[in-house]
Amino acid sequence: MKNYSRYLITSALPYANGPLHIGHLAGAYLPADIYVRHLRMQGKEVAFICGSDEHGAAITLRAKKEGILPQEIVDKYHAINRDAFKDFGIDFDIYHRTTSPLHHETAQEYFKVLEEKGVFEIREGQQFYDEEHKQFLADRYVQGTCPNCGSDRAYGDQCENCGTSLSPLELINPVSTLSGATPVLKDTSHWYLPMQDHEAWLRSWIEEGTLDGKEHHDPKTWRNQVLGQCKSWIDGGLQPRAMTRDLDWGVKVPVKGGDGKVLYVWLDAPIGYISATRQWAADHGKDWKEYWSGDDTAMMHFIGKDNIVFHCIIFPILLKAHGELNLPINVPANEFLNLEGDKISTSRNWAIWLPEYLKDFPGKQDELRYVLTSIAPESKDSEFTWKDYQARVNNELVAILGNFVNRSVVLTHKYYDGEIPARGELSEYDQEVLAEIPKIKTRTEELLNSLKFREAQAEAMNLARLGNKYLADEEPWKKIKTDPDRTATILSIALEVTRELGTIFIPFLPSTAEKLQGVFQAEEGKIEKAGLLFQKVEDAQMEEQMAKLEASKAQPETAHEPQKEAVDFETFQQMDIRVGTILEAEKVPKANKLLKLLVDTGLDKRTVVSGIAEFYKPEEIVGKQVSVLLNLHPRKIRGVESQGMILMAEDKDGKLAFVSPESTMDSGSEVR
Ligand code: 2FM
Ligand code: ZN
Repeated sequence: MKNYSRYLITSALPYANGPLHIGHLAGAYLPADIYVRHLRMQGKEVAFICGSDEHGAAITLRAKKEGILPQEIVDKYHAINRDAFKDFGIDFDIYHRTTSPLHHETAQEYFKVLEEKGVFEIREGQQFYDEEHKQFLADRYVQGTCPNCGSDRAYGDQCENCGTSLSPLELINPVSTLSGATPVLKDTSHWYLPMQDHEAWLRSWIEEGTLDGKEHHDPKTWRNQVLGQCKSWIDGGLQPRAMTRDLDWGVKVPVKGGDGKVLYVWLDAPIGYISATRQWAADHGKDWKEYWSGDDTAMMHFIGKDNIVFHCIIFPILLKAHGELNLPINVPANEFLNLEGDKISTSRNWAIWLPEYLKDFPGKQDELRYVLTSIAPESKDSEFTWKDYQARVNNELVAILGNFVNRSVVLTHKYYDGEIPARGELSEYDQEVLAEIPKIKTRTEELLNSLKFREAQAEAMNLARLGNKYLADEEPWKKIKTDPDRTATILSIALEVTRELGTIFIPFLPSTAEKLQGVFQAEEGKIEKAGLLFQKVEDAQMEEQMAKLEASKAQPETAHEPQKEAVDFETFQQMDIRVGTILEAEKVPKANKLLKLLVDTGLDKRTVVSGIAEFYKPEEIVGKQVSVLLNLHPRKIRGVESQGMILMAEDKDGKLAFVSPESTMDSGSEVR
């Protein structure tokens, strides 16, 4: 294997439309961070790159639903996710954003380079179009019945129930999620990447690790599931893939004919790695090109298994087509992490969210890092359970690592006033223990080199085990009375192990390692006190976490949106909500969901347009009392000005019901 002096390490850019959970951390961020810390300890030059993926239809869809701008969503979650990574010690050199002007410029330049080289072909095709909203529908905007499992909530790109990848045209009874109407097929043209033209070189690059007839990397260092997925894709025959989309949120297609189109995720998110590197390089007086083109630079992408084809086939084609950029020497993708017997699911709130974990377990980021690395889904799916979390923290971190360090440090303070005692003659056992230290260190490093983070951490833990056993066998607390010289030797060896623990755990448990190093930052020959490194996890805490998860199971899906951010009372009071009485109701022509209502608000009689036509007939609701938000900016809906909003309760199936006073009230009564 070539020895590189410089590394470019990327972790998949997470979408900035929700908080991160333990599956994200375990999949693409924690292993990358461990590896980066390891490389830095080896004296390598490393750029560790990540950022928010702020484009994509899921974000615009959510913005539409919530009636806010996509920018507001990504601003919020970019900050939340950036902070969560920081809190967990994920030590990116930069956490960039794909809405930044530099990213747009970089992605557009990249597109133009490829366009000029004739890498794309423009193809006419048909795509679903929402006639009511006058726009093409991104795959995510089309819902229907899954042709595979029959679930009626499949999206145009994927069925969330059975996991099958879909194209919108495969859905049975497709509907537009914007209007609820059946979309029509309309002609559109897009820039396609003819992937099939790249099959030959891709095959030898993946299977043999050769590129342009030269050795590029050793395929034996790649994970089996990564190779397996790539091979089966190539064997299945590569197809042309659209690189652009009809959408107005994203990086605009910068050439003639690109109006109303943006670069699709393939030419957007991974180019984010480049724009982030450019920004970081500019900020630190570095040359970004060295990191992307240098001969002695190795690039690696850390991702989850849903991004394997993206990073091992599509992005490499784009990199090679560009002509001046390196291809990754490895793509260490992880499998999935499950939670308490079930798939992690954002929509079902079956997840442990990083910000919530930190609220419930303040200061315990290393505990979660430790457990997630212990169960890292490196070669197959794995499972997080709170019981296992508790057992690993209590039986390993507390009982072995914490206990050993605590005894070494406390006893040294007790017997020698914090002075590292002088070593006498060594017994055979002492020599064995001392000889074992470098062996454990070497094995840990080798495992890290081969990206086996789970085993590497277990090996590091063996050093603590060694020390713990040594103290238990030697019992210095007994010998202090009978054999003080021997006690001095034992504690000096225990302290040497402690010092080494402060190094070996840097990649895995950075804040614990820092505390350990702090022990040795006293004046020459002395040690500081350590304090307890870890605390026992109590049953009650675990029961609380399980109850939280169980509560998610009991709740309908729409209620699973994590609670919105707290607002102050003044903000709440700004909303003028009152009881209104419906005086007239009629259908809005050509809009099957809308009713136009005339409402007596106590102040006036005003028109409000409401999307309730599927649930209420106009004649049924005249005379009904409802809650009305009065001071919402008036909006034109299908040509009718709506002066306010009727508040509705919505259940998990999207069924709507009025929120009405329990007994008749005067129109205009305040709701507060
Ligand atoms: O799948 C995702 O989460 C997308 N945001 C893309 C991540 S990969 C990328 F950054 F290249
Ligand atoms: Zn399905």
